[in-house]
This record gives sequence, structure tokens and C-alpha cells, in this order.
Amino acid sequence: MPETDRFPFPLPFGWFAAGRLDEMPDAPVTTVRYHDKDLVVWRDGGDGRDGGDAPSYNVFDAYCPHLGAHLGVGSRVDDGCLVCAFHEWTFRPDGTNAAIPYADRPNRKARVRSYPTAVRNGLLLFWHHPDPDVAPAWEVPEVLTDDHVEVGRHTWTVRSAWQEVAENSVDMAHFRSVHGLERVGEIGAVTLDGAVRNVTSTQLFNTARGTFEGALESTSYGPGVGVTHFDLMGRVTLVSSTTPVDRDHIEVRFTLYHAGDEIAAKIGAAFAAEVSRQFDEDIPIWESKRYEPSPALAPSERAVTEFRRWAAQFYPDVAVAT
Ligand code: FES
Ligand SMILES: [Fe+2]
Repeated sequence: MPETDRFPFPLPFGWFAAGRLDEMPDAPVTTVRYHDKDLVVWRDGGDGRDGGDAPSYNVFDAYCPHLGAHLGVGSRVDDGCLVCAFHEWTFRPDGTNAAIPYADRPNRKARVRSYPTAVRNGLLLFWHHPDPDVAPAWEVPEVLTDDHVEVGRHTWTVRSAWQEVAENSVDMAHFRSVHGLERVGEIGAVTLDGAVRNVTSTQLFNTARGTFEGALESTSYGPGVGVTHFDLMGRVTLVSSTTPVDRDHIEVRFTLYHAGDEIAAKIGAAFAAEVSRQFDEDIPIWESKRYEPSPALAPSERAVTEFRRWAAQFYPDVAVAT
């Protein structure tokens, strides 16, 4: 069946990662494609890696409102503005036209769509809503401290939708069948506060260093960003992001950290590898499954329905069957 028939979801709105800060290219202007759009990320100031001034990041639609040049091709950053390569019109971080080199005043109508940005937890985030007038409706907190040390990272592109992949976290039964864990974990408390959803659960984890019973606390800040604390014998923290590339593809980033405790430092890398292994195991299922709007659930699977009800709020003006 055509890809988009596998699930009925439009693109969700919220905060999404445009990339990890330390993976941003050296060039001040780069092109990315998310939400079915060509976008440019541009940086004013240093790259922040050499102890210099913290740079500020902007995310723009890629096409110049003058005559449509792609702002990721040949443009430069000058005096805090993005300068289009084609006729050198300059655009401020808010997307307004600052100057036209061959006119005595800027064009007030010329405005590039500029997305609100925030740097959190090592990620450059941008707020995406189809309606440019809808301002960010929630915040993503910074959870990483100076003590956090990375133990592993992974990035995947998956032919699926964020909701299908996120549903995995409340699908306790699959941890046994797909991930080979000895028993099914349990969902504890679910706390919903608008876009923010907090779930505690237990799970077993197989690692090269043995099987661990883990307590999890997972917080989703809308569809695009999540923070999960795994308390095994030490705490490992996963910062995850899911960014729609188009209706059928998402880009998922996992970065795992420990905060200095000795056991977490020892098992961190093995644990990060296990989390990535589990994700790899899910991919063939996600990429071939379809969304069941009225699923036949076992009594213990109510969390799936709750999850879907929460997820529905991120689809603008479109009713999605739960
Ligand atoms: S197309 Fe960008 S300045 Fe003309
Ligand atoms: Fe899974």
C-alpha cells in the first residue's frame, strides 16, 4: 500500500531537533530538510566550540522571498543577518528584510519564515507549527548539567511516523517478544500536563554485563523531545529527539549520559549499546506495520489508548481516530 496509507497522521507540531549542536557543520549556513520542507540553519557568531562567544542559531525556510534563491546555496552571514547569494538582500533573524543593496530602503513585505529556536540538552530545537502565528505553547527544559558525560549516541532515519514509534514506550508486551527480555515490565504512574507527559515504568535490560532490572522515568515534551532516566544500579539519562522528515520518515537521535556516578560510568556504554540494539530490533516492525485505529487490546494495554489520546493534541485541526 502507498506509504501514507499506513498511518493517518498529518505532521505534528511542537519543538523538534534540527541537529545536535556538536554535529553542526563548520559552515555558518547549512541546509536541512524536515517537515517536508527545505530549511536552512544559520549561525551568527562562533561555533561555540573554542570557548568563544556562544553562537545564536536561526532556522529559516530555505527560499528567498525576493526571487526564490535557495538560501543554503552560497549565502553568507554578515552583521547578524543572512545575506542571500543571488542579489544580496539581507534578512534579520526574525526573517524581515534589513536591506537591499540597490534600494534606499528594505522591502517590508519580503519576509522569510523564521522558526523560533532554543538550544537544549545538546540539541538545536526549532518550533514548528503549520501556522506561523502559533507561538511555542510549551518549553523544553535543560536537564543536562556540567557533570553529564556522554556514553553513546545513535541517529536513525525510520520509514514511519513519530506516534507509531513513540507508542513503543507504553507497549510493554513487545519488550519480551521483540527484545528478548525475560519478563514484561510494568507501567507505573502516568502524569499528563498538557504537552508534557511523564511515565514511570520498570523493565529488564540485557547488557554485556548481565541483566538489570531498571526503573524508568520518561518525560515527553510534545512529540519531538524526550528525556528518560534509567535507574539501574546507577542512573543513565537518554535525551531523545524525533523530527519528521516528511509524512513517511522520521529522524531519531538518542544521546545517552551518566552524571558522574561510578556504576553508571562503568555500565553506561554497554547500556547505550543495548538501548540502540532494541531500537534496531523495532525498525523492521515499524517500517512494515500499519496503524490500527481501533486496536484489539489485552486488559493490561490501556496505556496504549491513553497514549493515543495524548498524542492527538499535536495534530493541528485534524481529527485523528484514537
Ligand atoms: S533571490 Fe534572494 S536576493 Fe534575490
Ligand atoms: Fe522497542
